[in-house]
Amino acid sequence: MRKNIVAGNWKMNKTFEEAEELVSKLANGFDKKYLKCEVVICPPSPYLEMVSDYAEESVFDVGAQNVSEYENGAYTGEISAEMLSSIELEYCIVGHSERRKYFNESNSQISAKIDRLLDFGIHPIFCCGEVLNEREKGIQFDVIKSQIAKSLFLLNKDEFSNIVMAYEPVWAIGTGKTAKPEQAQEMHAFIRSLIAEHYDNETANNTTILYGGSCNAKNAHELFANNDVDGGLIGGASLKAQDFIAIAKSF
Ligand code: 13P
Repeated sequence: MRKNIVAGNWKMNKTFEEAEELVSKLANGFDKKYLKCEVVICPPSPYLEMVSDYAEESVFDVGAQNVSEYENGAYTGEISAEMLSSIELEYCIVGHSERRKYFNESNSQISAKIDRLLDFGIHPIFCCGEVLNEREKGIQFDVIKSQIAKSLFLLNKDEFSNIVMAYEPVWAIGTGKTAKPEQAQEMHAFIRSLIAEHYDNETANNTTILYGGSCNAKNAHELFANNDVDGGLIGGASLKAQDFIAIAKSF
């Protein structure tokens, strides 16, 4: 079901102590009374349980940043969907551009990861986005269409209803070059039209589509005010309690 979500992707940042300091500030700072969105925190894996303990006393949910494409077994260093489910996680990011770029994750691996997560009732937060060169060439819509077709449109309608989408233009991630609100709206509307075309209007209208890429406390309101922007996937600004709380209050 479509809802507003603000998700924090902490990426590979913070020691355990720093992470605990941040999450305790967040746990105290969020108040159900003013929140018009669901909040999800995606810390590094070693901190998932600690953050989940704080979540029990607060209003946010917890997500992982990655999952193995394999089931359990001899895959040294990997973390399975079953493990994430056994600590009751609700969400997991998949297809992030940093994983595509630095770990050569392919559309088919991303698709396998989504299948593993759905087997255990975890909502994938599926990221797609074009690089600068692709936008300059004007092929951003083709890129997004291909990423979605190859990893998501293999799902049936029921399976797809568990997906949260995140449009993260790669040129906007960590660069301070936020997409203009109209650029975000244009791409989100396009993504929704692809979903309507492949499934139906109801499915498209029920899909949550987040924006990610230099979203911060200053620009969040303008971005979230767009019809097809249902919230944000926040990197850098999710590492500061005050900023992340301000973003969650931007609806
Ligand atoms: P920044 O907010 O730091 O640009 O990162 C966005 C992102 O990659 C979230 O997944």
